[in-house]
Amino acid sequence: MAKIISGKEVSAFIQSKMTDEVKYLNEKGISVSLAVIIVGEDPASKVYVANKKKACEKLGIVSYEYALPENTTQQELLDLVNELNQRADVNGILCQLPLPKHLDETSVINAIDPDKDVDCFHPVNVGKVSIGNGKLLPCTPAGIMEMMKYEGISPEGKNCVVIGRSNIVGKPISSLLLNANGTVTTCHSKTKNLAEITSQADILVAAVGRPLFVTADMVKEGAVVIDVGIHRDENNKLCGDVDFASVEPKAGYITPVPGGVGPMTIAMLMCNTVTAAKIQNGVI
Ligand code: GUN
Repeated sequence: MAKIISGKEVSAFIQSKMTDEVKYLNEKGISVSLAVIIVGEDPASKVYVANKKKACEKLGIVSYEYALPENTTQQELLDLVNELNQRADVNGILCQLPLPKHLDETSVINAIDPDKDVDCFHPVNVGKVSIGNGKLLPCTPAGIMEMMKYEGISPEGKNCVVIGRSNIVGKPISSLLLNANGTVTTCHSKTKNLAEITSQADILVAAVGRPLFVTADMVKEGAVVIDVGIHRDENNKLCGDVDFASVEPKAGYITPVPGGVGPMTIAMLMCNTVTAAKIQNGVI
């Protein structure tokens, strides 16, 4: 039977540490703030943005919300990003994705000041993560590393297998595991003999985007299984990329869905916002 790694618990631990950090910075006369841009009416995006705002309030981080209409032009959006880049009272800038189809996400990401890029999507920050000297870290991958650290799991010398090569999770978690001295294999839709590779994993990260994709036969006895997926099954119940029912008895550690990796993303966004404030005030 696997030990369940509670993202709720680790997220609360990180957020409590960040509350203390914000207090400490405030006492030094440094405020911490996050600007969130949302364009259009996507209901899921609205919920995510509301949750980010709530987390900021809880931690003492000032939040500014810019809710722009669906018909916002590329230039209007870039003008807002540039204005926020210039503002000394804004430490972090996040533009909620996806953007409406007529807007170009890449040019918006590239316009954000890398020191304010709390998503860690800007190519400069992606490069720093790859080199291994990034201060701002990609939220979901950094959250996975924190969950393992909390449980005393080190990737050093371990066989780490990542399924998925997205820019948001698969590639950056591969970098973080490699930087932590793991032996990393990144698998994807063209990988041959996938189950053979995943069966060798001491640490298996499922970021495939397909419900219940990872089954017990793909998992090594005692492995650490991290599930990044979030889907609804045929009964409208939340499930991950991992078939929890069959994998849990075989794994050593496993993250549940919900309550696993999900809550970590927002905690690490708060961490990055504090880090951004420190960078901009010469504290680190
Ligand atoms: N949309 C879904 N997840 C994210 C995220 O982590 N950052 C941004 N900017 N948009 C998202």
